[in-house]
Amino acid sequence: MCGIVGYVGSKEAAPVLLEGLHRLEYRGYDSAGVALVNKGRLKITKAAVRVNELRNLVGTDAPSTIGIAHTRWATHGPATDANAHPHTDADSRIVLVHNGIVENYEDLKAQLLEAGAQFKSETDTEVLAHLVGSCYLDGISLEEAVRTALRRVEGTYGLVVMDPRKPEELVVARNGSPIVLGVGDGEMFVASDVAALVRHTQRVVFLDDGEMAVVRAGDFRTFTLDASSTTKEPTLVDASDDEYQLGTFPDFFSKELHEQPAAVDRALRGRLDEQFATVRLGGIGLDPHELRTIQRVKFLGCGTSYYAGMVGANLVEELARIPADAEPASEFRYRNPVVDPDCLYVAISQSGETLDTLAAITELKRKGGKVMGAVNVIGSAIARECGSGVFLHSGPEVSVASTKAFTNMMVSFAMLGLMLGRVRDLSVASGKRMVTGLRALPGQITEILQQSAAVEQVAAQYAGSSHMFYIGRNRCWPIAREGALKLKEISYIHAEAYQAGELKHGPLALIDETCPSVIVIPDDELLAKNISSIEQIKARGGAVIAITNTTLPEGLCDAVITVPKSEPELDPVLLNIPLQLFAYHVATKLGRDIDKPRNLAKSVTVE
Ligand code: AGP
Repeated sequence: MCGIVGYVGSKEAAPVLLEGLHRLEYRGYDSAGVALVNKGRLKITKAAVRVNELRNLVGTDAPSTIGIAHTRWATHGPATDANAHPHTDADSRIVLVHNGIVENYEDLKAQLLEAGAQFKSETDTEVLAHLVGSCYLDGISLEEAVRTALRRVEGTYGLVVMDPRKPEELVVARNGSPIVLGVGDGEMFVASDVAALVRHTQRVVFLDDGEMAVVRAGDFRTFTLDASSTTKEPTLVDASDDEYQLGTFPDFFSKELHEQPAAVDRALRGRLDEQFATVRLGGIGLDPHELRTIQRVKFLGCGTSYYAGMVGANLVEELARIPADAEPASEFRYRNPVVDPDCLYVAISQSGETLDTLAAITELKRKGGKVMGAVNVIGSAIARECGSGVFLHSGPEVSVASTKAFTNMMVSFAMLGLMLGRVRDLSVASGKRMVTGLRALPGQITEILQQSAAVEQVAAQYAGSSHMFYIGRNRCWPIAREGALKLKEISYIHAEAYQAGELKHGPLALIDETCPSVIVIPDDELLAKNISSIEQIKARGGAVIAITNTTLPEGLCDAVITVPKSEPELDPVLLNIPLQLFAYHVATKLGRDIDKPRNLAKSVTVE
């Protein structure tokens, strides 16, 4: 979604801001802009262009040691030069950039119009700029003006405001849209995502919802909307700038896909306990007695994270024999859920900033629910809101379409299931089997990645299809859904996931020679039933691409991709990798912009 960068220090601001915007390009945007101040004069450059073109437009004629910049993803008004940020009030006394949505902007705009304001754009952000301007009266500081204005705002914001006549400070605010401060040596950075600032500093301060900051080159101050001071110590981010670079890969999707052995290795490191055939997940903060009191587990997340939750629910039920299920957080938050005090709720999020998931957590906590996070980004809103949980340790995931975070979610839930199982009735032998299986995963994933060229050949055969089915069942049903989502996201081919047993109840009507099916078929207790599903498809002329870990009858399928055997509970982890490779190669054949799929954003911080 939109991206924010701010800088105040002694360096020239423009290169810092533009480079920061470049680091945020992966989030998706349709216009970009920068505001700089030189000798008290404000210079705004903004247009519906890519960051590279903006760089040329900015030029070098306004050296400035302070500035704010933005990439916009259109919500109110189309992607035009006028709607791009930054926006100013009437006399350009203040200039600001904003992420989020001002829900009551129509009311506020009507009031401002009545008071004589004139608007140059269709955005809710310009309303915010005029509102701050209207509160910025003589004798009132910029921070007070912003505070007063924000008390009238309903909605979400990550906000950076600057007064060109006071080029030594930025006023920052957050509510529902991430803002992080980067603490440098005699310089400060502001961003909506650490990706924009890790090349300058790893010391960061995450603002909380309802929190503001005044940022100067040498220091920062944080406080609430009612002006009470808050105490914030910088923390170190565990990501380096290198992790945001492509290196030798053509795109972040394939880079992150190939990083999975290392990512899984990181997730397992220090957690496997061979001696007691269990795992240590200290971040959950529950002792064995408390773990035993859990009567149910419910996983909540959106999109890929929800599918990981479905895998997690199966793992918890199988390993711990505790009833478990998964639900999209986007549904849960709106349906007045019954919250069970004996249930452990697991909020799943790669970014840690997804608004729907955050809202589900708030609802849960308000009703006394016990909630832990399964989050990749340390310091993110969901991680902080949950307070306890499992960090995924995937390393930064830049590609909009998730790969390594999904894999690490599944691995983390295998560990959670094992831990819950071992304080109940899971035997030492079964625990050992799982620990051994987990330990083998990185090497096995490496083996699967080596088959990329073979998967590419299969992808080339089917890239021309308009529709595909993804078939799975039980443990592998969630990864069939994830595989279909991946194909949709990056290739734009319509893909629908179905349980194998449900085919005959309707979808078979769509099967013909133009509609191939990707079927996930592990060597488990349902192998024979899955083979008969394949036969049903073949009998209707449909092509079948099998992803399996066993030997299927000769000639049964049109293409077969075989992965190493694991413990059955871990089948989804390995069988999912060829689905990622398949989606990737199909999308590449179709010439798609893999890292920037149309209409999608990396973190969805709006409703
Ligand atoms: C994944 O490929 C998708 N881009 C999307 O479904 C994503 O998983 C979802 O928006 C949730 O994001 P989160 O994990 O950051 O909360």
